[in-house]
Amino acid sequence: MTKAEAPAAIQGVSERIGAHAAAGRELRKRYTVADLAALTREEARRFVPRGDGDPHHDVVLAWELLYRLEPELYDRLASVERLHPEIVSWLPRQVDRIAEVGAGTGRLTMELMARGQHVVAVEPALPLRRILRRKLAAAEHGDRVRVVRGFFDQLPLPDEWADLVVACSAFTPAPGHGGDAGLAEMERVCRPGGWVAIIWPNHLDWLAARGYRYVSFPGPMSVEFASYHEAVELAEIFYPKAADAVRRRGERKVPFEVLGINPPRDLAFKVRAG
Ligand SMILES: C[S@@+](CC[C@H](N)C(=O)[O-])C[C@H]1O[C@@H](n2cnc3c(N)ncnc32)[C@H](O)[C@@H]1O
Repeated sequence: MTKAEAPAAIQGVSERIGAHAAAGRELRKRYTVADLAALTREEARRFVPRGDGDPHHDVVLAWELLYRLEPELYDRLASVERLHPEIVSWLPRQVDRIAEVGAGTGRLTMELMARGQHVVAVEPALPLRRILRRKLAAAEHGDRVRVVRGFFDQLPLPDEWADLVVACSAFTPAPGHGGDAGLAEMERVCRPGGWVAIIWPNHLDWLAARGYRYVSFPGPMSVEFASYHEAVELAEIFYPKAADAVRRRGERKVPFEVLGINPPRDLAFKVRAG
């Protein structure tokens, strides 16, 4: 999408960022129905299918607004919630073509570019694509990655294009965020004998019923915030139930269990039948 195509709401984002940030509000209460104007028509069709969404009651929708209204705040969170290092080591090495769906600001993409000669990072949210492009421009091998707009259910790639098709913390069984149509698209884009991988999956039974096998890597995992101050600030927004515990600990490093979320230590995968 070019700048001219950006929704008007995104062009007026900076004032609203100030309002949300100053409020320091938790994600669930951060945005209002008026903020849905930040979504393009195509995004609204997927994320607000009945047209009556309210981010106060739909935290998934609040995340979508975060990506568009405060993308740098999202990037700060994703940068400290690091993946288990064995996830990346486990993925196939030295492949020619990789497709990543829901690439965000590149938590995984920045690792993939050392493994694939050609990486396509598909990401619907324009502000996240901009941050990812900025990071790639400064990175060795960044030119191997093409960042494109797209959605799980309509990937802008030919049949059997990739050796590895992957999504990290992005795919869910819900139709707006993947679902059966999205999984079928990921498999369509994967070559026979290639790999489809869902990293940090939720709904393991749903994936197992579709032939996906599960791998989890052990060991303690923590979120390493830049400072104690940042730990408290981000906990108040993203893990509000854990904010008191984070304050009491008085440390910048906080185990995932304290935050009350599953650590990013697992994946589900399928080798596409030949
Ligand atoms: C929690 S973020 C994860 C981003 C990145 N993969 C990471 O690990 O940091 C979820 C991502 O999925 C993207 N997303 C949401 N719905 C999508 C859809 N229908 N198709 C493709 N991507 C989608 C969002 O824009 C966002 O970038």
